[in-house]
Amino acid sequence: MAGQNSNSQMPEDLISAIAALKRQKNAVIMAHFYQEPAIQDIADYIGDSLGLAQNGEKSAADIIVLAGVLFMGETAKILNPEKKVLVPDLAAGCSLADNCPAADFAEFVKKYPHHTKVTYVNCSAEVKALSDILCTSSNALKIIQSLPENQQVLFAPDQHLGRYLIKKSGRQMVLWPGACEVHETFDAKKIVQLKVRFPGSVVCAHPECPEPVLDLADYIGSTNGMLQFVQQSPAKEFIVVTESGILHQMKKACPDKIFHAAPNNEEACGCANCPHMKKNTLEKIYLCLRDERPEITIPEAVRRQALVPLRRMLALS
Ligand code: 13P
Ligand code: SF4
Repeated sequence: MAGQNSNSQMPEDLISAIAALKRQKNAVIMAHFYQEPAIQDIADYIGDSLGLAQNGEKSAADIIVLAGVLFMGETAKILNPEKKVLVPDLAAGCSLADNCPAADFAEFVKKYPHHTKVTYVNCSAEVKALSDILCTSSNALKIIQSLPENQQVLFAPDQHLGRYLIKKSGRQMVLWPGACEVHETFDAKKIVQLKVRFPGSVVCAHPECPEPVLDLADYIGSTNGMLQFVQQSPAKEFIVVTESGILHQMKKACPDKIFHAAPNNEEACGCANCPHMKKNTLEKIYLCLRDERPEITIPEAVRRQALVPLRRMLALS
């Protein structure tokens, strides 16, 4: 993969400069809901992992700038080998992907030769290539339920999402012991304190949260699921248990409703930020469009193998 950009001569009006580069190069900016508000506001498409994968493929652009984390850029590249896929910062990883190295995953799955390997998209292209089918937080239950009832299942790399799926589907699964460093820090006690402080508020949570937190939730779903939920709910006040970036779209969609970002354990600042997602900035987006790097590259054999479980997931979504 190409190296990082050097920060030289920023235009005064970054937003206009980015728009001009997009037009000139037939590029689109696709952003995840956890991006900082300024990035969400210039994106051509904002979505969850599934939406980003589906919309990248539909796009007629020559260049996709994926403002999210590395695995999202890799997913876009697996689906769009003919397009240039750029990410603002190659160092924007993900604790789930980073703690499931392909070599260790290959050893792990060897112990369960008869299990179907269902893997959350928050993983590397190499781990995707070793999987039977992928899922995102928005389709995971559907994917599990699509498997024959007598089929043994191995789920990686998020144990909390895995446990949630076991509970919802009633099926046993072997779990890889990974967790999201952001969602794992939510604390049930603090959510209860918020519920007491804001009586009548409704709790929505991402399924990457630990079980005691999910037990307090009125709604559990992907980032896009949560956004739809707060719009459709008659409730006026919400406690949002996920990365705080999603609040930007919630406030835009429902200006008359009140949203409280759930605090993570002892932090004084009061909300949870993904350090990887927040590596991206408008400046880095400008530079990556101008210099057309860092670019995602995946060895073709790995890409082709990873495409198989990804296509299986998309067919069921
Ligand atoms: P979503 O697919 O729900 O947006 O989740 C992505 C993610 O990384 C959550 O931490
Ligand atoms: Fe990964 Fe967690 Fe960040 Fe999502 S919030 S990208 S799962 S580290």
